[in-house]
Amino acid sequence: MRPLSERAVARIRELMKRYPRKGSALLPALFVAQADHGYVTHGAMREIAGLLEISPADVEGVATFYTMFAKRPVGEYVLQVCTTLSCALCGGISMLKHLEKTLGIHAGETTPDGKFTLLPVECLASCGTAPMMQVNDLFVERLTLERVDELIAELRAKPGHFGRQIAGTYDPHYLGLGSGNRFSSLSEDNVPSAGGGLGDNHDLS
Ligand code: FES
Repeated sequence: MRPLSERAVARIRELMKRYPRKGSALLPALFVAQADHGYVTHGAMREIAGLLEISPADVEGVATFYTMFAKRPVGEYVLQVCTTLSCALCGGISMLKHLEKTLGIHAGETTPDGKFTLLPVECLASCGTAPMMQVNDLFVERLTLERVDELIAELRAKPGHFGRQIAGTYDPHYLGLGSGNRFSSLSEDNVPSAGGGLGDNHDLS
């Protein structure tokens, strides 16, 4: 099993200094591990436990509780489709089935080319803009099946970094390099622009 990179370990040590207890850095450390390997491996969980001086069971308990941590390899674009009540009433489940058909995979699977992973998820706290899904780290809201088709075509056509402007779940910038090193926060240089196509605009309405 590939160990965490030196850069990832250094980043975790840096994050640990922000907290009175080392163990409190667990969530950001898991994000670093995910950015390092693309998902959170068992080896990474053990390494994090050692660094934070907590039990591997504690690390695994947290990593498996939160759906934003992938425990197996995922595609370039992780599509998390909300299927909870508001989104379901507005077509979220139809959207999930439509994506299954369009991508030729079942929910929970990754396309053979490694481009897309499709996941049904519980409420993402954007109920007022239902139906919606999260593409990597960005919300795409007020969706229709036509807009979903446009988005998939756009993502297929040009490899890009849509959904990676906000450092977090799947973003290697979270290791501390580049402009996207602020976890789950918006700043002038990582807020998507107001226009310029699907790749730049997280609100497709
Ligand atoms: S029900 Fe979909 S975001 Fe809340």
